[in-house]
Amino acid sequence: MTVKKSKPRAEIQQRANPLTLWASRLAIGLLFVALCAWLDRIKARWYVFNPTELHELAQAAIASSPNDTAGMIQHIVTNLTLTHPSNKIKLNVDSSEWVFNNAGGAMGAMYIIHASITEYLIIFGTPLGTEGHTGLHTADDYFNILVGEQWAFLPGSLEMERYTPGMVHFLPRGTAKQYKMHTGCFALEYARGWIPLMMPFGLADTFTSTLDPITMYHTVRITAREMIRNIFIGKI
Ligand SMILES: *[C@@H]1O[C@H](CO)[C@@H](O)[C@H](O)[C@H]1NC(C)=O
Ligand SMILES: *[C@@H]1O[C@H](CO)[C@@H](O)[C@H](O)[C@H]1NC(C)=O
Repeated sequence: MTVKKSKPRAEIQQRANPLTLWASRLAIGLLFVALCAWLDRIKARWYVFNPTELHELAQAAIASSPNDTAGMIQHIVTNLTLTHPSNKIKLNVDSSEWVFNNAGGAMGAMYIIHASITEYLIIFGTPLGTEGHTGLHTADDYFNILVGEQWAFLPGSLEMERYTPGMVHFLPRGTAKQYKMHTGCFALEYARGWIPLMMPFGLADTFTSTLDPITMYHTVRITAREMIRNIFIGKI
């Protein structure tokens, strides 16, 4: 009797095991999705910069240093240093720290003023002009033109959008455009959202096109350094 009983029980156990395994995997998956959804809902609490204030600052920088890109950048960095205490947010004030950025087929250089998990603020541009895909991002992007022009277009529109100094080109997360800096352009670019998820787009061209490990090294080094400096003061 005992032998007869134990055999079907063992069979049931063998069948139940994969089921519980998959059920627990599903539960962990759902928990992860719920955690991501929750983090996404509350991410705004970590934002320090304000897009409207940055837009005003970009306009003030243009007005204070006409035809002088370096002067505009200095104006921006000085203002941000005075208005944002260093125990709230860490800024990189070394405006000589530029690196190439190849992304979406476009090429320029950037100076990272701030990078954390939920925000970045950079000066991006090139005096030569460039063209490419904006990238499809997990962050809202505010592109404040300082010098030159940026043109953009969405499939379906037959006219180009045109952004000139003092204007802001807002690209909500989840949208992508073709853009062109026709004859050179520099901008103050502010992104808020999930910044690490933007990194693959920012580095992919290194592997598929430029094969420039030095630029990649410095991009990763500076970004990681700034993110870690911010994490240490609790700026996510
Ligand atoms: C920073 O820039 C903003 C916008 O131009 C301006 O209102 C503010 O007074 C400036 N603050 C300092 C300390 O320069
Ligand atoms: C800036 O450049 C424009 C066009 O190149 C010129 O008309 C203007 O006089 C310049 N302004 C200053 C302050 O140099």
